Amino acid sequence: MDGDRVGAAAAPLLVTGIGELVTNDLSRAGALGLVSSASLLVADGRVLWSGEASALPAEFAATAAQAEVVDVGGAAVIPGFVDSHTHLVFGGDRAAEFEARISGQPYSAGGIRSTVAATRAATDAFLASRLDGFVAELHAQGTTTFEVKSGYGLTVEDEARLLRLASLVTAETTFLGAHVVPAEYADDPDAYVDLVVGPMLDACAPHARWIDVFCETGAFTPEQSHRILSAGAARGLGVRVHASQLAPGLGIALAVSLHAASVDHCTYLTDDDISRLAASDTVATLLPGVEFSTRQRYPDARRLLDAGVTVAIASDCNPGSSFTSSMPFCIAVAVRDMGMTPTEAVWAATAGGAAALRREDVGHLAPGALADFVVLRAPGYVHLAYRPGVPLVDAVYRGGTRVA
Ligand code: NIG
Ligand code: FE
Repeated sequence: MDGDRVGAAAAPLLVTGIGELVTNDLSRAGALGLVSSASLLVADGRVLWSGEASALPAEFAATAAQAEVVDVGGAAVIPGFVDSHTHLVFGGDRAAEFEARISGQPYSAGGIRSTVAATRAATDAFLASRLDGFVAELHAQGTTTFEVKSGYGLTVEDEARLLRLASLVTAETTFLGAHVVPAEYADDPDAYVDLVVGPMLDACAPHARWIDVFCETGAFTPEQSHRILSAGAARGLGVRVHASQLAPGLGIALAVSLHAASVDHCTYLTDDDISRLAASDTVATLLPGVEFSTRQRYPDARRLLDAGVTVAIASDCNPGSSFTSSMPFCIAVAVRDMGMTPTEAVWAATAGGAAALRREDVGHLAPGALADFVVLRAPGYVHLAYRPGVPLVDAVYRGGTRVA
């Protein structure tokens, strides 16, 4: 069980009166495994059974009879969102940069360094309490599993402390020492890469599940990225990559060649990128909040989906390019501006995120899954895109325990 899930609830729970249940259960018909007039039975923090209320199997009747009953009165219930890409441990903010950008300045990777300075200056207590605030914010918006990256420390000590703090709130921690080259190494980027694959990886690997690199002009070259990702993989870390955010490049091909779980951004896609992704087990994670906040063009989700690529949606919550933690907002933008249907977007924000984290226990509500689910203040999941900006998240359960 995840480190952040020790002590999950024990009392059985029966959720009844579900007008529309999104199970993402592959054994059911349709992309989202929808069930109408449904119930959900939870025991020991996991889904024991989900299906049509009238079809509860006799073997579960005794458990259901003892369970606490929550009648949601015809509302829709969906799996908790799986946000597979965030940067939530940082100091300062960049509201002034956002204001300048919205008045015409282009986004570049350079702003990351200002957050690095503020993060280095911040105390552990400040960073931890801000992180706790973000966790509450995520839960309140229906996110029940989330990844957190380092990347605003960029010294051995600071990267390790960011990961230590992140590991207190999630099992999905990512070492992103290769976010940008810090100012003190500007004249010798390869010396910084030596630090990342040497002492920094040594200090960070014990607190991380994943390694990530920002492979982009202004950050790390494909060669440097290859070196860093291979070093992480050799230490047992899973691979994920930031690529093709600002321009087309070789980052997607690199990610696929290293069997990355996910390549994120994919704003600028070549035909070659799409065919490589389609033939791989690498998820393309799209980050609608980034294009929204930077006013760049949106990635062409339609082309990816039509080619058979597995697509996830994540928030990329960070102080520079996308300071939203709202998966419902990202779903609405993906539907409005990236060519996704509501069905595809809701799948991408739940099961897609789980695939991007190579998790089989979240992102769906089939028997055996963690009982992470959201009761919507709406009769159907389509309302997530149909009613943008409206707080439709009514109740959130994680491991069968209500967290919001
Ligand atoms: O995912 N692309 C690199 N990293 C972040 C941006 C971080 C920042 O601007 O502070 C991203 O968009
Ligand atoms: Fe990012």
